[in-house]
Amino acid sequence: TMISKKMAKAINAQINREFYSAFLYLAMANDAMDKGFKGASNWFTIQFKEEQEHAMKFAAYLQDQGAKVELAALAAPKTEWKDLLAMFQEALSHEKKVTAWICEINDLAIAEKDYATQNMLRWFIDEQVEEEASATDAIWMLEMSAGSKGALFMADKTLGKRKDD
Ligand code: FEO
Repeated sequence: TMISKKMAKAINAQINREFYSAFLYLAMANDAMDKGFKGASNWFTIQFKEEQEHAMKFAAYLQDQGAKVELAALAAPKTEWKDLLAMFQEALSHEKKVTAWICEINDLAIAEKDYATQNMLRWFIDEQVEEEASATDAIWMLEMSAGSKGALFMADKTLGKRKDD
């Protein structure tokens, strides 16, 4: 392989985190549906799919480098949140953790003078800016609708407009 064993291990750990992210967002999609918010449930279902794509992108990179993909157990996500705002706040704090993990892998790639992995990670570093921005937009919208059922209904409709990219 062209990448170190240590790097393969770090990327495998990230694959697990991306699948955990998928699982977390699917749990949020289910809770949103249970609470009657079909739009938010759609938003989180699309996010669930995106996270699986992230995991598969890392997996394809490992395989291109001749390293083995090794899956591990996923922790069980929560199944209930106070409200939509609490879900998106947790989504944002989760994405900040993901950003930090990706930066750690990038630090390792720099230390190892592993230019191929640095290039691969560039896409994820850009993607994390989007991930944090879209959760922040939803938080802003939900904070603006606090206390108004009509505004919350409209916010859910807006979240329902998110399409698979
Ligand atoms: Fe895979 Fe939400 O970052």
